[in-house]
Amino acid sequence: MSWNASSNAAPWWSTLAFRLTAGYALAGLCLVFLATASLYLVLLSELEKSTDLFLADKLNVVRTLLRERPQDWEGLREEIELESAARRYEQFYIRLLGERSTPLLTTPGMAEQLDLSLLARQTQSRPGHPFFMKGTHGQTFWVTSALAEVGSPSTRTDIIEIAIDISLREEFLARYRRWFLAVLLGCFAIFPLIGYQVARHGIRPVEEIATTAQHISSTNLRERILPEGYPFELASLADTFNKMLDRLEESFERISRFSADIAHDLRTPVNNIRGEAEVALARARTVDEYRDVLGSCLEEAVRLSDLISDLLFLARAESPLTHLHRERVNVAELLDGVRDYYEASAEDGGISLTTTAGTEPVIAELDRTLVQRAVGNLVSNAVAHTPSGGSIVLGTTVETGAEASTVRIEVSDTGEGIPPDAMPRVFDRFYRVDTSRSQASGGTGLGLAIVQSIMLLHGGDVEIASQLGQGTRVTLSIPVSGPR
Ligand SMILES: Nc1ncnc2c1ncn2[C@@H]1O[C@H](COP(=O)(O)OP(=O)(O)OP(=O)(O)O)[C@@H](O)[C@H]1O
Ligand SMILES: [Mg+2]
Repeated sequence: MSWNASSNAAPWWSTLAFRLTAGYALAGLCLVFLATASLYLVLLSELEKSTDLFLADKLNVVRTLLRERPQDWEGLREEIELESAARRYEQFYIRLLGERSTPLLTTPGMAEQLDLSLLARQTQSRPGHPFFMKGTHGQTFWVTSALAEVGSPSTRTDIIEIAIDISLREEFLARYRRWFLAVLLGCFAIFPLIGYQVARHGIRPVEEIATTAQHISSTNLRERILPEGYPFELASLADTFNKMLDRLEESFERISRFSADIAHDLRTPVNNIRGEAEVALARARTVDEYRDVLGSCLEEAVRLSDLISDLLFLARAESPLTHLHRERVNVAELLDGVRDYYEASAEDGGISLTTTAGTEPVIAELDRTLVQRAVGNLVSNAVAHTPSGGSIVLGTTVETGAEASTVRIEVSDTGEGIPPDAMPRVFDRFYRVDTSRSQASGGTGLGLAIVQSIMLLHGGDVEIASQLGQGTRVTLSIPVSGPR
């Protein structure tokens, strides 16, 4: 028997195939044992019952004859001598003992079959109790005895002994026991084989899934399992596995797209710096010209360093070791701070930037710097995409639950809005709706990805709703412990 190759490292007794086989074989053996043993017991008890009934019947007849017709010696002799001779199987012998154990009537041939003196001793020592006794030719007898009143009213008390030869029955039961043992031994050999086949058949899909999993690598994410013919549970496992591969493939694609985007976005400012420096160094320049070149190099370097710190932030936010520095924050005050920061650029664009004052202050345990950064990103997007004359409103509310509360921060604008087909992708890294425009305005497409990471760190989420040409509303929901 060869166990699965993948289980080579594990001891054979710890393989699933072995455990299932052992389980099937044990259960099968127990079942066969119980079925055969119970059949044997039923058979035994039925045979014993029928012998006992026969003996009781015989005793009754002899007793009745003795009590009611004590003179009918012929009838009694017939009952004892002739009836017994008529039986071919389960020969029985009756002996009637009178006073002082004098034999009065005996079935012919009884003395050849049984040691009568031993019989007399045994019935005297246990009168009324049936017992087994070996015959002179090795047969097995079942013997019972009883006292019988002679005449009515009784004149004396005789003893009736009946011995029935149950050798055939015993032989039959012994044959049954041998057959039972042979069946058990056969099952012992066959059940593990059948169990092993069943187990192999059952775990084959698992092995196929494992083989597919072993083949999967970053360059081979296309492989899938075909769950045709699999049992339902394993088909659903295969389906889960395929879905996991879909997600992995998508993540890998996103990561490679992300790397290409990073390379592209890093190359642009570096190329700009290089180009400016090369042009500047091509010939002698005036101090003002050098200052201009250095100024635009600095601008590109700032852009580069902002991009790198955004990427670093996203990488850190994804690390499971990142901890939040939660503190009690007055959210309305935080929004006022963000408004003050962006007020000047909003004013330059002719946009009104306001906060709605809540009825009561919203205090929550948050990471102030991160939430400030998330709201800042949203306001900067709103300012960039709202034309002159539009407005941006920042607001906060708190939804109190029985066990936890949720703080919501809303940034809505009356700007250009986002096209519906771009909505599912706005949180993707480096995604920009209008690439040329955003590039010109310095956007890298990381702002909303950072907002999403900050919300994930807080255990909250971000939702965006937008109508093209009407405006956009972004809602941050942050769960905070305990009712406020
Ligand atoms: N309030 C908004 N109104 C209209 N479009 C928006 C708004 N907010 C985001 N967008 C669109 O979603 C895209 C992604 O936004 P995100 O903040 O992630 O990137 P970005 O603003 O282009 O660059 P960055 O924020 O990294 O400087 C933007 O390019 C923009 O087209
Ligand atoms: Mg942005």
